[in-house]
Amino acid sequence: MDEEYDVLILGTGLTECILSGLFSVEGKKVLHMDRNKYYGGAATSLCPLENLYEKFGKGSPPESMGRGRDWNVDLIPKFLMASGKLVQLLIHTNVTRYLQFKSVEGSYVLREGKINKLPSTAKEALGTSLFGLLEMRRFKNLLQYMAKYSAEDPTTHEGCPPTVPMTAVYDKFGVGSSSRDIIGHAISLHTTEDYLRLPCLETIKRVQLYYESISRYGSSPYLYPLYGLGELPQGFARLSAIYGGTYMLDKPIEKIEQVDGKIAVTSQGETVIGKMIVGDPSYFPDRVKKVGQVVRAICILSHPLPNTSDSLSCQIIFPQNQVKPPRRHDIFVCCVSYAHNVAGNGKFLAIVSTQVETSNPEAELQPALNYLGVIDEKFVEVSDLYEPKDDGKESKVFISKSYDASTHFESTCNDILDIYERVNGKEFKFGDPVNVETVCGE
Ligand SMILES: *[C@@H]1O[C@H](CO)[C@@H](O)[C@H](O)[C@H]1NC(C)=O
Repeated sequence: MDEEYDVLILGTGLTECILSGLFSVEGKKVLHMDRNKYYGGAATSLCPLENLYEKFGKGSPPESMGRGRDWNVDLIPKFLMASGKLVQLLIHTNVTRYLQFKSVEGSYVLREGKINKLPSTAKEALGTSLFGLLEMRRFKNLLQYMAKYSAEDPTTHEGCPPTVPMTAVYDKFGVGSSSRDIIGHAISLHTTEDYLRLPCLETIKRVQLYYESISRYGSSPYLYPLYGLGELPQGFARLSAIYGGTYMLDKPIEKIEQVDGKIAVTSQGETVIGKMIVGDPSYFPDRVKKVGQVVRAICILSHPLPNTSDSLSCQIIFPQNQVKPPRRHDIFVCCVSYAHNVAGNGKFLAIVSTQVETSNPEAELQPALNYLGVIDEKFVEVSDLYEPKDDGKESKVFISKSYDASTHFESTCNDILDIYERVNGKEFKFGDPVNVETVCGE
């Protein structure tokens, strides 16, 4: 057996496919395997609809759902921030050429029992019932301060350097609990109150990202690909293949061994060698630790979400202190529909998720499920969250983290760029975009 690869990759989740693409573009020899017959691993999009019913043991879909192949149901719902790292990676690698995106129509937040649109323009801000006039002025002052804030420029700090806790910034502007909730949870998308005690810079950067993203397309900071999230890993897999990466699906993995500082992987009796290996946690049960659980309910509806101006796509955030009983983690709803070619004609998919805190995870979603109206069908799944026990620098085994409960890809991209840095010993530079055209033309 003489085939030796620079990198072996196991699992075709988004993280693995992006890394595979980046490594191939750099000239590394990559072999990418997945035990499944399909791309995407735990975060695949199921098509046709029959596959979703089968996965959850619910027989076959009723006639009212229309043609099964009109559906692409994401198991793990997420949106892309228009100015976020995933969009930057898509542009850098020109993988955008394989995909088509739609702007998500609105972002909403529950406050005092009401679903409110997060203002995306100054005009909308004037009409919002999220705060009274006085609070609105304080909120605006704080947002203006954060928009100008730069870690490197002390004249923008006005007494709050990047390391002071976020509470100090709120206190400085005298903002009340509504502004704190909106900024911390609906805009910065922190999932707990832990951020209050952490350095303010992280939250300020998130607010800046949110508003940069909104300024791109208008009504919300989020984008979503037509035909579902499953298109994303496949786009990066195509990039990898163009640069010589080898892909093999339906390859059960029997053994992963460390031999003479290298990695040997055996599948169907054949062994391949790699200088290192990258993969998702499911391939390395002994090398990962469980750090929590996420519960998700995929709901099929025949109507848009109530109180969202009939949006064909939206996000609703249920901050932890706005639901009963109060909890530690926020609950999220991501809604997409037939308009994105992911559901049958006139149908909507609302995926509700949160980090598990009790022994009855499904009940934890109820405070959000109550706001969805009639649910035609519901599929509930609890997934374990894993993280690697080591950073891979010595073992040469680089393992990604499970997809968390957040509804955007920023944390996933941080993991991707972090693995990239550990593998290559240097930070990923976006630099000049990869010119796929030139390579194809050869
Ligand atoms: C939804 O809108 C209706 C009509 O404007 C209003 O009566 C109701 O309180 C709203 N519900 C929520 C949860 O915001």
